[in-house]
Amino acid sequence: MSKTIIISNRLPLQVSIENEILEVSPSVGGLATGLKSFHRDGDSIWIGWSGLTNEEIPENLKEQVYNEARKEACIPVNFTSEEIDGFYYGFSNRSIWPLFHYFMEYTEWESSNWDIYKKVNQKYANAVVEHYKDGDTIWVHDYQLLLVPNMIREQRPNASIGFFNHIPFPSYEVFRTVPWREEILKGMLGANLIGFHTYDYERHFLSSVSRILRHPVDFNEVSLPDRIVKVDSFPMGIDYDQFEQAALNHSHEKFGTESDLQQRLNNHRKKSPGSKLILSIDRLDYTKGIANRIRAFEYFLEKYPEYVENIRLVMLAVPSRSNVPQYQLLKKEIDELVGRINGKFATVNWIPIWYFYRSMPFENLIDLYTSCNIALLTPIRDGMNLVAKEYIATRTDQTGVLILSEMAGSAQEMNEALIINPNNFDQISEAIYQAINMPVEEQKRRNAILQKRLKRYSVEKWASDFMKALEKSHESRNVYKATPISSQVEDEMLNQYKNSKNRIFFLDYDGTLVNFVDKPENAKPDPELLELIDSLSRLDKTKVVLISGRDKETLGTWWQDVPIDLIAEHGVWMRRTGKDWQLNEKVQNNWMETVRPVIETFCDRTPGSFIEEKHYSLAWHYRMTDPDLGEMRANELSTVLKELISNHGLSVLEGNKVLEIKSSGVNKGRAASKLLLRKNFDFIFGIGDDWTDEFLFKELPEEAITVKVGVKKTEATYFVQDTSRVRDLLKKFKESH
Ligand code: ADP
Ligand code: G6P
Repeated sequence: MSKTIIISNRLPLQVSIENEILEVSPSVGGLATGLKSFHRDGDSIWIGWSGLTNEEIPENLKEQVYNEARKEACIPVNFTSEEIDGFYYGFSNRSIWPLFHYFMEYTEWESSNWDIYKKVNQKYANAVVEHYKDGDTIWVHDYQLLLVPNMIREQRPNASIGFFNHIPFPSYEVFRTVPWREEILKGMLGANLIGFHTYDYERHFLSSVSRILRHPVDFNEVSLPDRIVKVDSFPMGIDYDQFEQAALNHSHEKFGTESDLQQRLNNHRKKSPGSKLILSIDRLDYTKGIANRIRAFEYFLEKYPEYVENIRLVMLAVPSRSNVPQYQLLKKEIDELVGRINGKFATVNWIPIWYFYRSMPFENLIDLYTSCNIALLTPIRDGMNLVAKEYIATRTDQTGVLILSEMAGSAQEMNEALIINPNNFDQISEAIYQAINMPVEEQKRRNAILQKRLKRYSVEKWASDFMKALEKSHESRNVYKATPISSQVEDEMLNQYKNSKNRIFFLDYDGTLVNFVDKPENAKPDPELLELIDSLSRLDKTKVVLISGRDKETLGTWWQDVPIDLIAEHGVWMRRTGKDWQLNEKVQNNWMETVRPVIETFCDRTPGSFIEEKHYSLAWHYRMTDPDLGEMRANELSTVLKELISNHGLSVLEGNKVLEIKSSGVNKGRAASKLLLRKNFDFIFGIGDDWTDEFLFKELPEEAITVKVGVKKTEATYFVQDTSRVRDLLKKFKESH
């Protein structure tokens, strides 16, 4: 039976060894806590790191570590301390983590760490391949394993691979600073489906792919030469029932059976009945805004001194990545801040902050969630933040107020919380004030909506939505991919051609009949081509239409003696055989005055590029520019133009090393349709190489034979490699008449 292989750096269980005794505890962090229930309920194995290095596991305990993991359907992968230093403490947490959270000043680029990151990713990929069987589904998780999808793809080209990024994906302007940005994007694109928590992260990723790798991006699909990769957002949920049930059980606990922590919390309540508890829970991480939170709390106490002795911040920070210097500094900063503020405000009966620096068992988390009136979560950046969701799920009587940073992914789904900017102390302190004084009815109204949503979009739903989308994208990965023309297909085409009574050929010119050259005016048809097209068009019952984006003067001159129909400027002009040019579409060109100067500024800054002015369109050619610069400028220009022309009935066509601005309604497909209306053709053939020809492929009737030149994403049915094969095919048609 096929299974799912989950792979993440951290397994849901962590192994530690005290006095030669093995201890297994659950992992902290959204990825592990969230995915756990999917793993528990489904048929999957989970590959990841046990939390110990090779050096830390004595030889005689190695097998036991493996067996403990296997008990929970996990497969540990082992690393040396050098590997963990370079891969985990190094590249993952000193480069990617800070950069992706917009902490650029914390980001370090060490090529030795990058080398180890690659090596460890390869180890992970190999471990997956080792356990992979045909039909399995592979689900790779998070920023530590960005290269793994493609490393698996290289060994298992047909595997169904999903990738989910649990942290933000930064904007292109930030991501472009990565020295190995191409490799990272290529690594991720090994997947069939790439998921993010929010649409913004998805958008940032797609923008980096299109700008850096230059792959065509169509809505949320990336076209690689041989596959389509789908990108989508799936906001991760929690195991709602588990938290709700734990809270319900907790409320039925008998007097005297509570945990020590709960007894302390109860005592506090008894001593000062009207007072409030504010909860803060996170891993000790600079992205979580813990220092800001404490300072904002200080600001609140100064602004509203009446709450001294009547409010307390219960702060739980879980130790995390303590080998990384920034985390050590943060620990020191938080210790000092808590000490200073407690010193400043404490009275004989009261201290403002209860601070715990440790991991806690699940039951204690529930004690805290259910006992605190307010949850204050103020990350500076956070991919999702599940704590916010867990807090709401445990509020079974629907009281409680969540104050949440707008920088957390979860804020996008939790509008009914009090949403704050984590850098605005005044706003945070006002939110605390509002939370303390919020009428119970309002608390219930807000929480009822939140709970309904969280219950519906639980972690099970999240995982099953992702898996369904993965299955779909894997099945349809080749949907747009044309197939090569085999000799059998070729025979069938020629047969159909021979037996037909009315034939029509739509032929694109540049890139289809002739190769691209330095300048458009130098791509004149050679005598051999003229002869070929001439003789094809003189055959009985055969119409040849040259359908091009070129201007009518050039086309008209080059093809003046050949009895074919010409369509110029993508369909604006038409010249029937032996007749004069006629305007085929009602179009305007008064917009050119506004658009031309903008393109000219790009010509000035991009040596080798130039404007080609047609009657009803402007084309910016960049074939002769430095390739990188050209692509970069083309991207920039395309963005600028799209903004400039929006709502003006114009569109930007991205051709082969050319951008063309023209009226939206005009395209090759529309022009071809008009011709098809004139007669009943029983053999229709369309061929072209670039984006502008896709309109033709889309418009031609289903029975038409459509052929793309080059292996690219296309609506065409077949592809051929190059122009010489195009000529070869046309020759065969001519000869089999
Ligand atoms: P991140 O993934 O960045 O750590 P999240 O808020 O998404 O942040 O996830 C944190 C997870 O870790 C939650 O599921 C939470 O219940 C768990 N957790 C947080 N603090 C503790 C703690 N002290 N002990 C045990 N689990 C914790
Ligand atoms: C975040 C990351 C996870 C990571 C977790 C805990 O949730 O997205 O990939 O596992 O933090 O961090 P750690 O470094 O301890 O694995």
